[in-house]
Amino acid sequence: MDASAPRPLLVSAQIGADLKAQIAQGVYPPGAALPSTRALAVELGVSRTTVTAAYDQLTAEGYIETRPGARARVAAGLREAASPVAAAPAPAHRLSAFGQRLLAEPAPPAAPAPAIDFRYGDLSGDDFPVLAWRRALNAVLLRRPARLGYGDPRGLPGLRAALQAYLWRARGLRCGLDQIVVVNGSQQGIDLCARLLVDPGDRVVMEDPGYGAARRVFAAAGAAIVPVPVDAEGLQTGRLAGIGPARLAYVTPSHQFPLGGVLPAARRQALLAWAEACGATIVEDDYDGEYRFDARPVEALRSLDRTGRVIYAGTVSKTLSPQLRLGYLVVPPALEHAFAEAKRLADRQAPGLEQAALARLLGDGGYERHLRQARRRNADRRAALLAALAETFGAEVRVEGAAAGLHLVAWFDGVPAGAEAGMAAAARAAGIGVYPVGPLYFDAAARPDRAGLLLGFAGNEPEAIRAGIRRLAAALATVRSASS
Ligand SMILES: Cc1ncc(COP(=O)(O)O)c(C=O)c1O
Repeated sequence: MDASAPRPLLVSAQIGADLKAQIAQGVYPPGAALPSTRALAVELGVSRTTVTAAYDQLTAEGYIETRPGARARVAAGLREAASPVAAAPAPAHRLSAFGQRLLAEPAPPAAPAPAIDFRYGDLSGDDFPVLAWRRALNAVLLRRPARLGYGDPRGLPGLRAALQAYLWRARGLRCGLDQIVVVNGSQQGIDLCARLLVDPGDRVVMEDPGYGAARRVFAAAGAAIVPVPVDAEGLQTGRLAGIGPARLAYVTPSHQFPLGGVLPAARRQALLAWAEACGATIVEDDYDGEYRFDARPVEALRSLDRTGRVIYAGTVSKTLSPQLRLGYLVVPPALEHAFAEAKRLADRQAPGLEQAALARLLGDGGYERHLRQARRRNADRRAALLAALAETFGAEVRVEGAAAGLHLVAWFDGVPAGAEAGMAAAARAAGIGVYPVGPLYFDAAARPDRAGLLLGFAGNEPEAIRAGIRRLAAALATVRSASS
């Protein structure tokens, strides 16, 4: 007999210990079915008797329940159990300079969702066009390809063609098919821009206040971030002359994030002229340009670009779902190859099935039909929020940035900026999620001394929005009476 072969008893004890650890970690919650003894034996390459012995022991100890002819289940009454596996000592890993810069920036806080959440970026699950998406996916699945392989890293040609036509129809943007790169959300697009265009120490212009997820990308790349203030019309381009040259500027000209300004034509020209003069690339993040409630969507900055300085980033995160992780870049011809290869290195390509489904939706008019509906629904939500804020807070609150997009900022002019965090905490204690604007400022000294809350409205129905604002007012009243 081979003395080194594991003895069945030890093997079944190890299987039992591993399953206990998985139960303790919630991999198998109370009531969940474990794999059948037959399937697990095949997976682990042991005899069924060995697995059965492990299950018998877990049953005897009360971790699982078995019934003849059915799969074993975790005992329904089981509460949290301490993991029986001793934690292995953590080995020392030296983080790269990138890793260290990444962790030096504050990460978004993870907290359970409150009952009524005004979190910006969330959409209502009811808005997703389930039928149209299912039809598109079904049609794609039925066209079974002869081989399954890797495709063009820039994305499916059919989707890039559909996007090219859509971008021209909807955003007045003309580009070649090879300029389009399908990415996993604009976040990946911004990340690819940083990888390809920014070296440690390079200066990157960002709007202040601005989009934290983009700031983290450029900061982790080692960029020296140059914050430029925004006003009601977006980036104050008049300040660009005083800041010197930069390698890149990241902007949200169609709807400044978070304050909502739409960059006027003269500022667009000034921004392009500055970029040309100093050789900077502009990243135009057009994250919610489809939503304008008072007029037609404004043209993209990219449409004014005559010299190939602008990289345009779009996404379906606000039109379909942030969970799809589908976005697109339109890059200047000179950068086509670099972006294709960077995307290939990052993850080879965006998921093919979803790309093909989106191509169908764009091609058969379903996307724009859905968008018209989403616009109507979000217009109702926006109206409900504006009315609720006016009725509940009156002159106490001033709204900024509500003409477009899916969020607005509510300024409490008489309340100092330092009170914001306490206001958000009081709201959360009352089951309402609202988000201070403070963390979106890069230059804390430059921010106005008044409290502001970012309120996204696309995730809630009008009734919940009204109830949420009433409860917010009650929660804020208790903070005020406690501090007076
Ligand atoms: C300014 C800005 N850009 C982009 C996005 C969307 O990112 P993604 O396409 O990666 O979901 C958001 C989402 O909230 C955003 O606020």
